[in-house]
Amino acid sequence: MIQSAANLLKKAKRPLALAGAGLSAESGIPTFRDTGGLWKNFSFQDLASPQGFRKNPQLVWEWYAMRRDTVAACRPNPAHHALATLEKHTPEFWLLTQNVDGLSQRVGAQRVIELHGSLWRFRCNHCGQEFEDLEVPMRLDNTCAHCGTKALRPGVVWFGESLDRHHVEMARELVSKCDLFFVLGTSAQVFPAAGFIPMARQAGAEVIEINPDATPMSDHATVVVRAPVGEALPAILKAAGIS
Ligand code: OAD
Repeated sequence: MIQSAANLLKKAKRPLALAGAGLSAESGIPTFRDTGGLWKNFSFQDLASPQGFRKNPQLVWEWYAMRRDTVAACRPNPAHHALATLEKHTPEFWLLTQNVDGLSQRVGAQRVIELHGSLWRFRCNHCGQEFEDLEVPMRLDNTCAHCGTKALRPGVVWFGESLDRHHVEMARELVSKCDLFFVLGTSAQVFPAAGFIPMARQAGAEVIEINPDATPMSDHATVVVRAPVGEALPAILKAAGIS
């Protein structure tokens, strides 16, 4: 399977990757739906929805501060490095990520679309301004530095909210043109991201799924690698002669 995937990668001119929480699992960041995953132990309604934020903003701020602490203490893993290498090697490569941890960017990846936002950004509900904020521990102060209103919120997409329209349009455009689509460490249950998988297949792309477990989208894959992405992706790049 590694060699089959490497053969597809060698031929590809416009490879694309869709990543989920499994990409960062080997860095020690919990996923959402696996055993021990965040949504097995915490309520997404309370912590990751506009209603939850209205009900108890302090709780939500503390949850994001805690997640920032976790990510700050973790290091990018070989899969993040492999994606950054692929980006350098292939001018047309882009990463569509559902992850908000910024670990891909920490190893130099630049062509990244953060579909679900970032733990490292805030947005003001009053003036709409977005801010990068890299402080750890995170300050629990919701005053907007631009308009002075106490209306900041985490810069992530919550359940029931739409993704940034510009991000979705760009992702769709890339998916419609790609010739190889990697599906990395996602349970492929959250839309619109999961919908990019059949869309890529319909556009004629080969699909490589790397995930120790099957997903509802596995049937769309041309090649399935049932292994941790931190092992499989560097092996595929090596077999394709990309370093
Ligand atoms: P999930 O937790 O739903 O799925 C994680 C996937 O990673 C599972 O399919 C695992 O089998 C797989 N996995 C675990 N370890 C792996 C490894 N080492 N290598 C490869 N795969 C591995 O996470 P997502 O699919 O990212 O959204 O979830 C999608 C969205 O749902 C998240 O972005 C988040 C969540 O609610 C929001 O918060 C808006």
